Amino acid sequence: MNETKEVVITVKALTVGYGEKVILEKLDFEVRRGEVFVILGGSGCGKSTLLKHMIGLYEPMAGEVWFGPDNLVTAQGEDRIRILRKFGVMYQSGALFGSLTVLENVTLPLDEFTDLPTQAKELIALAKLKLVAMETAASQMPADLSGGMQKRAAIARAMAMDPDVLFFDEHTTGLDPVMAAELDRTILRLREKLHITVVVVTHDMTSIRRIADRGIMIADKHIVAAGSIREMEQSGDARVINFFMRQEGH
Ligand SMILES: Nc1ncnc2c1ncn2[C@@H]1O[C@H](COP(=O)(O)OP(=O)(O)O)[C@@H](O)[C@H]1O
Ligand SMILES: [Mg+2]
Repeated sequence: MNETKEVVITVKALTVGYGEKVILEKLDFEVRRGEVFVILGGSGCGKSTLLKHMIGLYEPMAGEVWFGPDNLVTAQGEDRIRILRKFGVMYQSGALFGSLTVLENVTLPLDEFTDLPTQAKELIALAKLKLVAMETAASQMPADLSGGMQKRAAIARAMAMDPDVLFFDEHTTGLDPVMAAELDRTILRLREKLHITVVVVTHDMTSIRRIADRGIMIADKHIVAAGSIREMEQSGDARVINFFMRQEGH
């Protein structure tokens, strides 16, 4: 990805925490259109917290999160909803509703956000399932699917409203290496076909090497490396070197 790409998300001087406790301090970074942007760092460093701030789930202590011309931190009412609709999210667990079929799960966001007739919603949901090669599992229950298929169905659901940006939190957790590779291929295919921007929180080095264009690494409340994986690896920072070496081992 090159320097001239349009910026989709700008995080500015973002400080976040829980109660009085600061977890991340004065973060600045940009995500560009069409890239797979990874947020790296050891367990507990604040990756999931950052992601939740980027999708507006929490209010920061200070700073801004811009989606194009809109600051999510201060946006309210209709403006806020308009911004939130631009992205889809897949959490660590995948979290499909167990009592609904795969198709019904993917249809849920359309039920919530649109007034489309049932048949139209089903057609859209089926198209999303097709994107992740899951159309044949439409009538199955989540419990009858493998872990990898559940996650792909969750991606289809995150895609239901045609988001500009997809967020993933530790998408490969709980998957065997074959399924993890398959899921990464799905992510890359979506990016290629739909030019979607992808933000991924992870500490899975194998996955990082497969999918990342650029990213940041977090340690001790701050960004300690940024850029392409190669650029980050060349950092002289001991925390960064340790992260890459330790992760390589398993
Ligand atoms: N809801 C919460 N309330 C208070 N502290 C939290 C909460 N969620 C996470 N934390 C703390 O914030 C820090 C960062 O957590 P998290 O963002 O989950 O890290 P990561 O995703 O990098 O493993 C940890 O010390 C964690 O214990
Ligand atoms: Mg986490």
